[in-house]
Amino acid sequence: MNTLGFDDKIVTIERHIQEQQKQIPHATGQLTGLLQDIALAGKMIASRTTRAGLAEIIGATGETNVQGEAVQLLDIYAHQTLFRLNDHTGRLCAMGSEEEEELIQIPDQYDNGDYVLLFDPLDGSSNIGYNVSVGTIFTIFRRVTPSGPGQLEDALQPMRRIVAAGYIVYGSSTMMVYSCGNGVDGFTLDPSVGEFLLSHPNIKLPAEPKYWSGNVSYYPTWTKGVKAYSDWLVNGCEGQYNMSMRYIGSMIADVHRLLLSGGIFFYPQEAAKTQAKLRLLYEILPMGFLVRQAGGYVSNGDGPIWDIQPDDLHQRMAVYMGNRDLVEKAEAFIAEHDK
Ligand code: AHG
Ligand code: MN
Ligand code: MN
Repeated sequence: MNTLGFDDKIVTIERHIQEQQKQIPHATGQLTGLLQDIALAGKMIASRTTRAGLAEIIGATGETNVQGEAVQLLDIYAHQTLFRLNDHTGRLCAMGSEEEEELIQIPDQYDNGDYVLLFDPLDGSSNIGYNVSVGTIFTIFRRVTPSGPGQLEDALQPMRRIVAAGYIVYGSSTMMVYSCGNGVDGFTLDPSVGEFLLSHPNIKLPAEPKYWSGNVSYYPTWTKGVKAYSDWLVNGCEGQYNMSMRYIGSMIADVHRLLLSGGIFFYPQEAAKTQAKLRLLYEILPMGFLVRQAGGYVSNGDGPIWDIQPDDLHQRMAVYMGNRDLVEKAEAFIAEHDK
């Protein structure tokens, strides 16, 4: 306790990142700089999202992306901000973005570094026009090839190889939440001073889950097992849990709520399709890494995603993430009805 009676430290994200890096074997300082640049990108993107509706920045570009979805102006702004902050720093050997089909190379005139950065520049972008939370999701891997320009194999790595992952959610406040594999910490942007300050240290999923979250309007397209699981949730989980339902349609906001409230977020595969909607590298691995770091479990309905080796930059997968018992219950229904 100091002489004024306050003991709580004010911890900036820069300071926190420096402390985290000390605990990572072989860290050279590149990762610290990289995470700090991502925090800066978050501030720059936040300053735009809060002006949506005032400036000429909402609306579609008229283009569709590699996923066949309408590209919003803010998707492009967010993508370019991340690229322009990171292409020349010498920390990365490649980048990958939900908005770009191929692996993004570092321009020839700049050095290649030890890390690969993958990002969903703006998640939930269909919600921008409705003033609903959107966000940026990122994953960092250490390269596996020895040197030179990054290769696809540097980006196609499983969740277990993530060095750091996190997101910045642009909501009623802007928050950055990240993990370097040593727990999950959340920072809230104080817009008056332009700093992310530690507000949610060591986030853990509450043991008593509060919300389940899945888009039940797809019920007719689901397999028998997923329907049975959804029926179980809708009918009160046989009295085992006292949960309510929430679905925002921005994974970032749905999973942010999950981290703080406990429960389950799921996005199954349609029975007639071979792939689901959510992207393994840009959405599932990073958000799943955080849920796991917060004490939860992440499955594709068949088993853990932790060790799954991605085979394509834009691969999609079914996902169930949250409190372990709720995710295992989904696996049990799927095993019983779909196998
Ligand atoms: P993105 O805006 O990056 O394309 O991602 C949208 C995703 C994800 O955020 C969300 O969970 C999901 O789409 C919602 O899909 P449905 O509208 O099909 O429920
Ligand atoms: Mn997304
Ligand atoms: Mn996106």
